[in-house]
Amino acid sequence: LPPLRVGVAGLGNVGATLVSILQKDGAELTKKLGRQLVVTAVAARSRSRDRGIDITGLDWFDDPVALAKSDGIDLFVELIGGEDGPALASVKAALEIGRPVVTANKALLAKHGTELAKLAEETGAQLGFEAAVAGGIPVIKTLREGLGSARIAKVFGIMNGTCNYILTRMGNEDISFADCLKDAQALGYAEADPTFDVEGYDTAHKLAILATLCFGYELAPDKIRVEGITGITQHDIQVAADLGYKIKLLGIAQRTDDGIEQRVHPTFVPRGSAIAGVDGVMNAVALETDHVHELLLAGPGAGGPPTASSVLSDILDIARGTRVPPLGVPSDELLPYREAAMRAH
Ligand code: HSE
Repeated sequence: LPPLRVGVAGLGNVGATLVSILQKDGAELTKKLGRQLVVTAVAARSRSRDRGIDITGLDWFDDPVALAKSDGIDLFVELIGGEDGPALASVKAALEIGRPVVTANKALLAKHGTELAKLAEETGAQLGFEAAVAGGIPVIKTLREGLGSARIAKVFGIMNGTCNYILTRMGNEDISFADCLKDAQALGYAEADPTFDVEGYDTAHKLAILATLCFGYELAPDKIRVEGITGITQHDIQVAADLGYKIKLLGIAQRTDDGIEQRVHPTFVPRGSAIAGVDGVMNAVALETDHVHELLLAGPGAGGPPTASSVLSDILDIARGTRVPPLGVPSDELLPYREAAMRAH
């Protein structure tokens, strides 16, 4: 097989880590795949910024759309971020010419996922987004390939590493919300605009994606009731602890007789429960199904290496020729979203 030439748009924390892994582990990956895997081109805002990687031998693009369409790559990786703008334009440009795309962009997918899946199916392109939900946890693969036959009744979990890191530290130390957030930013966990993290929107984007994969309904991020963690004080966390609980920001989606109920809010979870033990930057996704009953997938939810490793797992799947409908079922089989009345919780 000819080498698979990868173009990476966006050299932030995740992009730079991915390029560094591909450069360092190239030989090992090639052995594993029986096919050479090589980054040939990159696009980013600044060419000269020090990112701790060597990009001198790579083709440079100022415009991610030009990279997405370039003849010098076989697979386009979008790590720019943002729900519209250059992220959307470049992903579309690649899919339109049938070129496979891997993205970690949950905001983009929550807003345009159905349209992008449709486009990918029309042109035969593959669209991987393992890194968009719960960082290093292979939850998309599990839902797309592993649990296809099970009827899922409910999916819930901790889907934002920044919020879980803040809530965990505020529970363990006398430290302010603002200081915890600053540390989460320094560690590379937070979004470029951390409001998305702390106001719960990032969790809502991920929940919308999971709900579509679990239930086969069209993506509907606007239908999610969202409350973030900015109102949580150390006193709240202490009161929860005195009563035998921890406070976690959960995303919850469940099938009801009337439709799908989706919400994101801080939740009291009993100390000693599996989900309460998921602390720091860890994420966890719990699935309730007919056959497996309850399954909990836990692991690192944010940060360069775990997220880049999920991007890489999509690249490897595409290099091997694995084919799956992006949203689990063909996009024209997705059911029109039907919102259930919110229940008391
Ligand atoms: N800002 C996100 C988080 C990054 O904290 O979980 C991973 O999607």
